[in-house]
Amino acid sequence: MSDDPHLPDVPPAPAAGETPLRTSLATPFQRVRTPDPLALVIFGGTGDLARRKLMPALWKLKEDGLLPDAFCIVGNSREDIDDAEYRQRMRAALEEFADAPDAGEWEEFARRIFYVHGSTDDPRTFAALRERLDEADREHGTRGNRLFYLALPPSVIAPTAEGLGRAGLVCDAEDAECWTRIIVEKPFGRDLKTARELNAALLRVFGEPQIFRIDHYLGKETLQNLLIFRFANVIWEPLWSRTYVDHVQITVAESVGVEGRAGYYDRSGALRDMVQSHLLQILTLVAMEPPASYDADSIRNEKVKVLQSIPLLQGDDIQRCAVRGQYAASGDGDGAMAGYLDEEKVPPGSRTETFAAVRLAVDNWRWAGVPFYLRTGKRLPAKASEVVIRFRPAPHPVRDLVQRDDPAPNALVLHIQPDEGISLFFEAKQPGLRGLLRPVSMDFDYCKAFGMESPEAYQRLLLDAMLGDATLFARRDEVEDAWTLITPIAEAWEAGGEPERYPAGTWGPRCADELLRREGRSWAVPSVME
Ligand code: BG6
Repeated sequence: MSDDPHLPDVPPAPAAGETPLRTSLATPFQRVRTPDPLALVIFGGTGDLARRKLMPALWKLKEDGLLPDAFCIVGNSREDIDDAEYRQRMRAALEEFADAPDAGEWEEFARRIFYVHGSTDDPRTFAALRERLDEADREHGTRGNRLFYLALPPSVIAPTAEGLGRAGLVCDAEDAECWTRIIVEKPFGRDLKTARELNAALLRVFGEPQIFRIDHYLGKETLQNLLIFRFANVIWEPLWSRTYVDHVQITVAESVGVEGRAGYYDRSGALRDMVQSHLLQILTLVAMEPPASYDADSIRNEKVKVLQSIPLLQGDDIQRCAVRGQYAASGDGDGAMAGYLDEEKVPPGSRTETFAAVRLAVDNWRWAGVPFYLRTGKRLPAKASEVVIRFRPAPHPVRDLVQRDDPAPNALVLHIQPDEGISLFFEAKQPGLRGLLRPVSMDFDYCKAFGMESPEAYQRLLLDAMLGDATLFARRDEVEDAWTLITPIAEAWEAGGEPERYPAGTWGPRCADELLRREGRSWAVPSVME
């Protein structure tokens, strides 16, 4: 407890060597409650996402007491296995990607896991699923509430939704007795046209409030906290505009390559895979106006306004403001890294970009004239995602007082990963008789400050979908507006030109540096917090 009545109570940080508290979703900002009884159906139930992310997240929710007692999971895929084999695989997934579950607790949990095999283009699959779900309602009290998670390739999303509708597995959005929701994984279409078609197909079966389009970046703690940081504090908001901000940088850097996903990735590339979704989502949260209230629609209305304020890049602007690269082999011996073209399943001569950088403007009252530079790439030197808000230089240099007359402008850095936190950089006088300036930082580290690790994005998002809270999911217009911006660039890149090669393990192609250099700026080197 703080003695000062003006200071909020903050849980004490763990002492050195003390184990941080268990991850918990019960942050001071979120009202957490246990969802209504429900059955969760995972299409793609034996796949990578289910094993790596969904099952560990569900287990954690169970451990945190955030799953209802009346709950069951039904996995589906084409593999012809039975409940016992599916349970065994899910347990193995927990051992591999989370902690080995306690035997007794697992037994108890596993009794609520089932499997229905069959292809989603076969009506018998849906009939069997319906039977299984009716049985779950009777035996486990799931009350007809269903959450369908479509961890499926894009081509089968619409047919699966239609299959659910035809099999009578979808309650009306207005139904007071039970509810049905659907979670759809990205990529949501591959351009504006296909995204619109997918939306139309889903909306033939589900109402918009029943559709949860997932972007796992929105489940990351720092992104949720961006709203709190901006709108629950008075000190930042007056600075948060063209008056004080020079430009904004958004970097999502990955050190990994395509990791055996070339089948998908080569058709997508960095622009579609990352910029259309994660980076534009980050941009909207940085640039949006304060919402009228903190419900899903008020927040999403403001995000959509940001997307609609971004002028489309067309014609020569694309050349000037959007650049791409592809990683090439580098290093030797133990440090050798394969080039993209040498990766398994990448077609010879592929022109797919593994790095993309764009300069966007947000043409509204707050941001007119402030460039937003976005970049993302694979095989960069580190896995690091951050937003840098670079402020304008001081209006009157302190040159008479100090020896250096080019003080670094202030910067606020929002670290999204690997270590979630916030740093404020400013100039300080180095102690001593000479007037020397040095940039210093004030750092806030989530883990240290709260003594707990942030929950996995999928925990937050699965829980929210069970609770029917769509705040952290993309709405129809958000997805389409994002594609409106990205499609002309993707089409121009497809039509011709080559990505510039960059050596694997470096910060991307030279054209990305040039994008900022010609405007007298440079990319910040992402810092991994100590
Ligand atoms: C996914 C992309 O959406 O996000 C992947 O399809 C990418 O290509 C991944 O590797 C990055 O997510 P994270 O949470 O590891 O930064």
